[in-house]
Amino acid sequence: MKIISFIFLFTFFLGCKREEISICDDSIGLFTFSSYPIGTAIDIIELGNDPLYKSIAIKQFNSITPENIFKAEYLHPEPLFFNWTEADSLVSFCQNNNKRLHGHTLIWHQQLPQWILDYQGSTSDWEQLMKVHIQTIMTHFKNKVTAWDVVNEAFNEDGTLRNSIWKQKIGVSYIEKAFLYAKEADPNALLFYNDFNLESNPTKRNSVLALLNNLRNRGVKIDGIGIQMHISNYYPESTQIANSFQEIVDDNYKIHVSELDISVNPLGKDIVPSETLFNEQANLLGTVVINYNKIPKQYQYGITFWGISDKNSWIRSFYNREDYPLLYDDNYLPKPCYCKLLRTL
Ligand code: G3I
Repeated sequence: MKIISFIFLFTFFLGCKREEISICDDSIGLFTFSSYPIGTAIDIIELGNDPLYKSIAIKQFNSITPENIFKAEYLHPEPLFFNWTEADSLVSFCQNNNKRLHGHTLIWHQQLPQWILDYQGSTSDWEQLMKVHIQTIMTHFKNKVTAWDVVNEAFNEDGTLRNSIWKQKIGVSYIEKAFLYAKEADPNALLFYNDFNLESNPTKRNSVLALLNNLRNRGVKIDGIGIQMHISNYYPESTQIANSFQEIVDDNYKIHVSELDISVNPLGKDIVPSETLFNEQANLLGTVVINYNKIPKQYQYGITFWGISDKNSWIRSFYNREDYPLLYDDNYLPKPCYCKLLRTL
């Protein structure tokens, strides 16, 4: 009887706390309201230099994705040298703060070290290069990284395979081989394919699913799909989001909304940040979360935002434009989309 009354009181308290957050302060972490992990991409330099950035990361999120430090140009800068220093400091941060660590990313066409770009060798030499890269990294982080983006952004928008250096040097089988090497290195890690526009481009999504299903039918372990969701106030529609989630779940893949940000200025105009703009952003975030909440629990790997504050966002530097895509503003204050998220989880 006591346990029932405790559960009732706890639930009632939590409900009250949620109701009391009508002014939407961020005193209680987002992930405490969620039945699935709520994550953020982490910049290792910001984590070390900005105490407020670090405190928000600890309080608000229970899953961490390295924004850059696990990529080949940082982890594997020379053929026979792996630089673990910064990456291990992120592992320690996650272990010390009880955060899930998501490994991003093993095989990508960007952020490769010069020695890989210059490498000359046969197809089997390239297969060995890729195997050593994948298996050395996964072995080093074994039992510390829950899941890996084994292959990132292998498809073009028209559904064809991107002619990346990996495809050029190894052939279309590089994707299958990458997942096989990963399974060998850490059979317990969840293995993901990660890409953008999968929520809004059915041609690309269908090609991804067709390839992954074919590999699975050949016995290749692929546990989930990362839908990056770098979206904007103007797209996607709720039906597009719902359809993409349903199709992926129907094919029995876990869904990681892996790099969520919502641009309020996708056309790079001279904008005035307004309540209207931020409420539109909040409503779209609500739509994403409402649709994500509907998928079966066993497929909910989690929702990860691609950064903490607008000032940290890759979008501003990459597109060289004014934008406000994340949950916190430039002064680390929660925005309307944070409040919406809190109420929708
Ligand atoms: O490390 C150097 C540093 O030494 C130098 O001083 C500084 C200034 O030039 O640049 C630093 O490298 C930058 C790196 O981020 C680390 O900050 C690169 O120039 C910059 O291009 C790189 O951008 C990253 C981008 O991937 C690269 O394509 C973004 O931070 C990162 O958010 C972004 O993330 C990708 C995902 O991994 C995959 N999905 C798309 C997403 C957005 O592009």
